[in-house]
Amino acid sequence: MIIIMLNFELYNPVNYVFGKGQIEKLTELVPSNTKILIAYGGGSIFKNGVYDQVKAALPSHDILEFGGIEPNPRFETLMKAVEIIRAEKIGFILAVGGGSVIDGVKFISAAVNFEGDEADILKKRILFKDVSKVIPFGTVLTLPATGSEMNSGAVVTIEATQEKLTLGGSALFPVFSIVDPTVITSLPKRQLQNGVVDAFTHVMEQYLTYTHDALLQDRISESILQTLIEIGPDVVENPSDYKLASNFVWSATMALNGLIQKGVPSDWATHMIGHELTALYEIDHARTLAIIGPNLYRVMFDTKKEKLAQYGQRVWNIQGNSTEEIAEKAIEKTVDFFHKMGMRTKISENAENIEKTADFIVKRFEERGWKAMGEKQNITLEKVRAIVEMSY
Ligand code: NZQ
Ligand code: ZN
Repeated sequence: MIIIMLNFELYNPVNYVFGKGQIEKLTELVPSNTKILIAYGGGSIFKNGVYDQVKAALPSHDILEFGGIEPNPRFETLMKAVEIIRAEKIGFILAVGGGSVIDGVKFISAAVNFEGDEADILKKRILFKDVSKVIPFGTVLTLPATGSEMNSGAVVTIEATQEKLTLGGSALFPVFSIVDPTVITSLPKRQLQNGVVDAFTHVMEQYLTYTHDALLQDRISESILQTLIEIGPDVVENPSDYKLASNFVWSATMALNGLIQKGVPSDWATHMIGHELTALYEIDHARTLAIIGPNLYRVMFDTKKEKLAQYGQRVWNIQGNSTEEIAEKAIEKTVDFFHKMGMRTKISENAENIEKTADFIVKRFEERGWKAMGEKQNITLEKVRAIVEMSY
């Protein structure tokens, strides 16, 4: 097994504009020589003043608006925006919202000039690498969690088939992202909790694999985890505390902007299984991760125990007599942290009539050919079944 630092390319063209009052900068960041589509979600931006700030910064731009992008954005909804852009010859999209709005805009950006059935973008996992074929877009982030503001991936649900699928490619980075930590003040506690747990699990997916020679990547990952543990419980109580808010927002971006993934193995099976729970039961994304993550570590214990022990020692200061003992305690600490962050870590605590969940997910993965996941490609369908059944 390879344990040296892997070769990598680090490409991230996002102009990341951070801090209080930065929404004003839209005036210079949004092009003025083309029509703009402002895309948003269910309307939170009207209540918390973000919409007003955006509009104030764009007094002379030619703007159309598209609202109603739902949490876990739907292909069917996004296609309506695609039609508007085609008809109105829009040249730039501004996403104002959380991960769902930003992801939705990535799909819209990719779909406008796509030749063929747009659902294939998701079903065939087409990679978008040519910036001249997509509609450029910027973002104003309102919910720290996904890292979508500084990465080129997205997750979209096809309502008709209840499938939650990914898309991406180097052409789908935002041109810029405005990240003002004060916008989190209006977030419901539930969403703040979700944000911390989603960001935490993003780090775990890229860190909790096997021990390797990429020392710096491990230390960066551990520092993000420690920061989230330090501020997470407090920021959900005091989102208007700027020290907490600024560190939360930056940690969430750093967790999934590509940096800690460079040169190291990654897992992502917690997300792949979690996405199915959202598709089936509409459980919030982060909550699915809190259910699946710890059980995946338990089922894959032999594969992950060395890294679990490193995590336990460095992140949680756990002492013990053996790798196994420290690793087991590290899993329990993680579950305790998720509980502290308001998560319920069983499927049955989040949804009803769940008996067939494992059958359903295993069948889907089989149909898609996802028979070997994880950093060692040893999360087989049997393991997936065990993880899901352990989560009931
Ligand atoms: O729709 P509005 O009215 O704006 O309300 C939203 C929504 O109801 C609300 N909200 C957002 N900012 C707010 C606010 N309410 C008050 N004040 C604010 N400042 O919060 C609710 C949830 O928003 P959503 O965007 O769905 O949440 P999140 O950012 O957690 O995004 C979740 C989506 O991102 C995907 C998930 O699968 C899910 O579909 N992910 C995307 C990733 C990526 N692109 O890299 C990676 C992640 O792992 C994840 O899979
Ligand atoms: Zn996530």
